[in-house]
Amino acid sequence: MDSRPIGVFDSGLGGLTVVRALIDLLPHEHLVYFGDTGRFPYGPKPREEVLKYAFQITELLMSHDVKLVVVGCNSAAAAALTELRSRYEVPLTGVIEPGLRAAAKATRTGRIGVIGTVGTIASGAYQRAAAHLFPGVELTCAACPGFVEFVEAGDVDSDQVFVLVERLLAPVQAAGVDTLVLGCTHYPLLARTIGDVMGRDVVLVSSGEETAFEVAAVLDAIGARRGPRPGDEPVWHKFFTSGDPATFRTLGARFLGPEVESVEAWRWN
Ligand code: DGL
Repeated sequence: MDSRPIGVFDSGLGGLTVVRALIDLLPHEHLVYFGDTGRFPYGPKPREEVLKYAFQITELLMSHDVKLVVVGCNSAAAAALTELRSRYEVPLTGVIEPGLRAAAKATRTGRIGVIGTVGTIASGAYQRAAAHLFPGVELTCAACPGFVEFVEAGDVDSDQVFVLVERLLAPVQAAGVDTLVLGCTHYPLLARTIGDVMGRDVVLVSSGEETAFEVAAVLDAIGARRGPRPGDEPVWHKFFTSGDPATFRTLGARFLGPEVESVEAWRWN
């Protein structure tokens, strides 16, 4: 048993969808979350820049003595997970393989769609992982620029969002996918609109739950899962943002729930 916290990061609020699943599956774990809202979106940025940010944030989480890091951002995982794993000794979990695994379990036809940021889709990370892990699957990928900005503005169901979703999902609809991976951790917050556009026969898959299962398995494998023990410190969740803490708290509480109580500001020098 290891009482140190789990660290999670994202470019903003999206990683909270992974945090929700982590808290539900691992309710006794302390957690430190960093949302880089001051520098979002990551999706349109060059890989080198996202790589640099991922290292900065991981370093920051390490200063909080985390026992495991969840890269709760597809764009950062696509750009940096391999490099982060070779630099740090703590286990690092991404969201790309877990999302694909969940989709492979859900599909009946083998036709799977993936939507993500421009950076994630252009990186080829999903295409490579699918070819390696599930070679029988037919993957159709579509970049969805603009989705993250709507979520960070707290708009998940306006007419403008619907029109954009309809337009950008056209390629995966045309491919006749029966399962759609929400390959950006912000997108589960748009699930209702995405579901309305795709129709009820298409299964939407977000990586949060499968990622939480992977984290649980890793912690169990190294004997680091924190269990309830009489007299132990109560569970805590700390949130940091490089953007405006008040906005993060309001939207975070709406999207994650009551766990987003206090949010501390972080300024990059
Ligand atoms: N949640 C991030 C992801 O999963 C969003 C990236 C962005 O900031 O564009 O890709």
